Amino acid sequence: MSLPEKHRIRAAFSRAAVSYDAAAVLQREVCRQLLDMLRASNARHMPADILDAGCGTGYGARLLASEWPSARLAAADFAAAMAQKTASTTAAACVADIESLPFRNQAFDLWWSSLTVQWCDPRYVFAEAVRVLRPQGRLALSTLGPGTYAELRQAFAGIDHHRHTLDFSEPAPLAAAAETAGLAQLQIVRRTITLHYPDLKTLLGAVKAIGANALGDGRRSGMMGKAAWQALSAAYEAQRTADGLPASYDVILLTARA
Ligand SMILES: C[S@@+](CC[C@H](N)C(=O)[O-])C[C@H]1O[C@@H](n2cnc3c(N)ncnc32)[C@H](O)[C@@H]1O
Repeated sequence: MSLPEKHRIRAAFSRAAVSYDAAAVLQREVCRQLLDMLRASNARHMPADILDAGCGTGYGARLLASEWPSARLAAADFAAAMAQKTASTTAAACVADIESLPFRNQAFDLWWSSLTVQWCDPRYVFAEAVRVLRPQGRLALSTLGPGTYAELRQAFAGIDHHRHTLDFSEPAPLAAAAETAGLAQLQIVRRTITLHYPDLKTLLGAVKAIGANALGDGRRSGMMGKAAWQALSAAYEAQRTADGLPASYDVILLTARA
């Protein structure tokens, strides 16, 4: 990811810190599913030091704190407003890029990251996770696969040739990056979660409210001409179901051991 692209993504998340919690339905569900998977993968694991990498407003950190109340919890997010929200409610949070963490080697027993790695280079993320994890430490992450926003891509397909979503990774290259970094005992679960919206404006507004609107090559629906917007809405309408306009998330959950 280029530096300007990273700045754009960080700025979008910083702006979204105020609207994030009201819109983060998928994000909370994925955190709960990741915690369930982590529990199932090793029920006896009692981490003393935990890192939430890419903490957002701190929902995951709060789940971890209630699961392991006596653990010391640290959090990091590269968007200052997100880190501040977590710091004010939940845990010591610093402004940091999870590709280059400001923590000493072997500082944590659990490295956790939910719906953040899709914005990063997984090679750097895993190398840093392995560096800060103690031997036998656990890693738990969720990310998004290429099926994410399939409906949006399909609707855009007849309209222009810009990239409108991130280049989401398949689980196999992600697993290969994890193993190359030195992680073992990988377990991967993949499931589709579909949310429904009354109309396209509400759908895109929800994406923006969590800060994930710095998608693709930066061309926004807000910058579209009227004709293109109408064509996009009509193409999306063709995918309407009884529940509303669908937005699918191809959720990948991964646990591993250092
Ligand atoms: C979709 S939110 C998820 C937040 C939180 N984990 C949750 O589940 O609610 C993604 C978060 O990752 C952060 N982020 C993205 N790339 C990052 C990076 N390279 N380093 C640190 N934080 C990053 C964003 O600022 C944002 O707060």
